[in-house]
Amino acid sequence: MKPNLDQTTLSEAAEFLAKTLGPPPPIGIVLGSGLGAFAEQLTGARALPYAEIPHAPMSNVLGHAGKLVFGRIDTTPIVALSGRVHGYEGHPLERVVFLVRALAKWGVTRVMLTNAAGGVNLAYQAGDVMLIVDHMNLSGMNPLTGHNEESMGPRFVDMTRAYDPKMSDVLRQAALQQEITLREGVYAALAGPNYETPAEIRMLRALGADAVGMSTVVETIALRHMGVRVAAVSCVTNMGAGITGDTLSHQEVKEVADRVAGKLIKLFSMALPRMAEC
Ligand code: HPA
Repeated sequence: MKPNLDQTTLSEAAEFLAKTLGPPPPIGIVLGSGLGAFAEQLTGARALPYAEIPHAPMSNVLGHAGKLVFGRIDTTPIVALSGRVHGYEGHPLERVVFLVRALAKWGVTRVMLTNAAGGVNLAYQAGDVMLIVDHMNLSGMNPLTGHNEESMGPRFVDMTRAYDPKMSDVLRQAALQQEITLREGVYAALAGPNYETPAEIRMLRALGADAVGMSTVVETIALRHMGVRVAAVSCVTNMGAGITGDTLSHQEVKEVADRVAGKLIKLFSMALPRMAEC
């Protein structure tokens, strides 16, 4: 049976990170659309283009830089993955989750995931920020399909508290302090790459989803499998199809993501060092 991850390639990537960057930081962040500028906040930063990391996948989506940045906020070491690959690009799932797994294998124990998402909850509006408290994997994809490597994690992974309550609390507190309205909701992941139809958005709302996107859940699953604590935030870049009458475009998604980025970067700069201690 096809292994769902190749231990050797993963170990080689993790060993490269240890050799090049030293001991693992307590926390990592995956930067979704528009959030690449977060990496520029890190002091004493060292950037590694994905091309330099053994076996790392390359992203093809415009606006995804594709580099790992290791630096600090105050005294807290932080690693940022700027640019991710998606299943819809045609990458096998073990490639999609390769870098977050490599962080875990290096020894990173907490990861903050971020993304751009469409608003499904009618109370939301474009520009909102949503703490992901739970998810629905409607993508039809799962990074754990295939042989389970017991040394990495269990065959049947508990997902009761997939999103870490303590890390989430840190985000709530930081948002409160910065007077950022933090929505809370359920993120539904679809495979993409097309945006949803209005009927699909109504279906997702009926199912209990608050936001919809094409990433994050496979990373959450792979990280929880390895026992890594996860928190996640969506930038609601647009309302789901059919809600406002406007059509959707990647251009609009990027523009709103860029507009909200400053606020999110401030939020993460405060929250990540605290998460590293919680
Ligand atoms: N649907 C799915 N993914 C998205 C959307 C959307 O409306 N906006 C940003 N990412």
